[in-house]
Amino acid sequence: MTLEDQIDKGRLPNHLAIIMDGNGRWAKQKGLFRTMGHEKGTTAVREVVEACAELPIPYLTLYAFSTENWNRPKLEVDTLMKLLVSSLKKEIKTLTDNHIRLNAIGNLNSLPKKAHSELMDVMNKTKTNSRMTLTLALSYGSREEITKTIKEISLKVKNNLISPSNIDESVINNHLYTHDLPDVDLLIRTSGELRISNFLLWQIAYAELYFTETLWPDYRKENLYEAILNYQNRERRFGKTSEQLNP
Ligand code: IPE
Ligand code: IPE
Ligand code: MG
Repeated sequence: MTLEDQIDKGRLPNHLAIIMDGNGRWAKQKGLFRTMGHEKGTTAVREVVEACAELPIPYLTLYAFSTENWNRPKLEVDTLMKLLVSSLKKEIKTLTDNHIRLNAIGNLNSLPKKAHSELMDVMNKTKTNSRMTLTLALSYGSREEITKTIKEISLKVKNNLISPSNIDESVINNHLYTHDLPDVDLLIRTSGELRISNFLLWQIAYAELYFTETLWPDYRKENLYEAILNYQNRERRFGKTSEQLNP
């Protein structure tokens, strides 16, 4: 039986998020420039998007560029932004053919004009697709997102649009970039790093975490199936006891 056949299609994660890490090390191991690693990483993106659409996993969120990544050398940042534009241009057909809606989270106004307008264009062209929502986290940082959320809610309190006693988790949810996405069920990080790096801190409160040594450019459908099978062998208790869940 293949790995894919072993997956229980009735218990797939509803929202999968991935920290795509290890492009630089992949390139270094091969004596290539880091930017080559980023280029190769786009193959893995295509594989994973395709696998999720096939399974199907309705929500896939990919960490593509963090607020902290702006501190990388200018050449690398420029290459990543160019790669974003060329990938968007290239993949619009795949998105349309597979009925995938493109979404983005993060401080999008800080993106270069060209990347921003290409992104808006593809998001607009795919907005009625309903098989799967692919969210790119771009210039995304969880602390920036939470800070923005607090500012917006404070302003509403100041203008008497909401009273402090009515601020609950759903009010906070509604002000996050992810307001139209469900909570993350499974978070995968590649490349062996065991950290979250400012990604979806609020949204992963009860996500299952899965770390793999595989570097992102080497990541293929089989790697994803392995992670999903591992996820399906876990008991998600949400604070309850195992006996409560299995009476
Ligand atoms: C992930 O790979 C891609 C981005 C952060 C944009 P890295 O570029 O972080 O690769 P490593 O961690 O240096 O190997
Ligand atoms: C996190 O990876 C950001 C993305 C994958 C886009 P990094 O490689 O930037 O994370 P750190 O700095 O090693 O934690
Ligand atoms: Mg990295």
